[in-house]
Amino acid sequence: MPPESPAHVPVLRDTVLRWLAPRSGGRYVDGTFGRGGHTKAILEAAPGARVLGLDKDPEAAPAAAALAAGEPRFRFLAGDFSELGSALDRVGWDLVDGILLDLGLSSPQLETPERGFSLRHDGPLDMRFDPGSGETAAELLDRLEEREIADLLFGMGERRSRAIAWRIVGRRPLRTTGDLRAAVIAAVGPRRGRIDPATRTFLAVRSAVNREPQVLAAALHEAPGRLRREGVLAVISYHSGEDRPVKHAFRRLAEEPRFELGTRRPIRPDEDESGANRRSRSACLRILRRIEDAPGEIVRPDGDGR
Ligand SMILES: C[S@@+](CC[C@H](N)C(=O)[O-])C[C@H]1O[C@@H](n2cnc3c(N)ncnc32)[C@H](O)[C@@H]1O
Repeated sequence: MPPESPAHVPVLRDTVLRWLAPRSGGRYVDGTFGRGGHTKAILEAAPGARVLGLDKDPEAAPAAAALAAGEPRFRFLAGDFSELGSALDRVGWDLVDGILLDLGLSSPQLETPERGFSLRHDGPLDMRFDPGSGETAAELLDRLEEREIADLLFGMGERRSRAIAWRIVGRRPLRTTGDLRAAVIAAVGPRRGRIDPATRTFLAVRSAVNREPQVLAAALHEAPGRLRREGVLAVISYHSGEDRPVKHAFRRLAEEPRFELGTRRPIRPDEDESGANRRSRSACLRILRRIEDAPGEIVRPDGDGR
């Protein structure tokens, strides 16, 4: 039997629920289904609520299929949350009551060496959320010029970006996560503090492989306009490169009369949660709420729409 993948504990679960405040008849989108922790919480919180789950990782599909088999209020579409609009059109939903994006990696992705995300386990240098499409991390690092690699790392806040890029290029082709980590350590030396010296490099490469900034920008452009009045967009990010565009997009939108910020400051897990779940430590939740209908917008009554 294959080893069981580690369970994923949904981050800021109760806080997300408080903000989404699921109601019977409400429609919610979980744009990052993962193993469905937040989806299940929404379905349990309001007996008449419906959830559309999206995830681009094919390994999310079995958990989604198992949930959908026993729960008619849940539907799953394999795909990218940047295509939120077409997913909603496919299920016949115009406006929705809540959209959640819980960015980053699920525990099974992080802990499965074959996915190539892990700093701790050696595996193929892949890092694609959808292993069926696009360039792997190894292919990307083979293709880019040294200066482009340095820019990528610098963009993620890596101060030793040039030295690391030089080592990466000198050791090409890199084939495993261990090769990449070793190149970083050759450039900057071994771990001194709590944080692995290759953390920022891994984040930068993963972000580039999955075009994360572009995908997030597309979702932030699309999602607010699909909220019903009183609808909430909740985004959980895990590093400043993810949080910054969310902060700026939400602040800009809150200048319009139809939106307001849930809180001025990001919401973080309390000590109990960050003590119990390491993954939650860097989490940062931002909330945008729609408070007015757009002029001329037709809000459809609560039809079934499935
Ligand atoms: C942090 S996990 C979500 C965990 C989930 N909230 C739970 O409780 O199980 C992030 C998930 O988002 C998915 N993902 C990342 N980028 C995506 C994208 N652009 N479109 C759809 N899913 C994406 C990943 O495959 C991963 O399963």
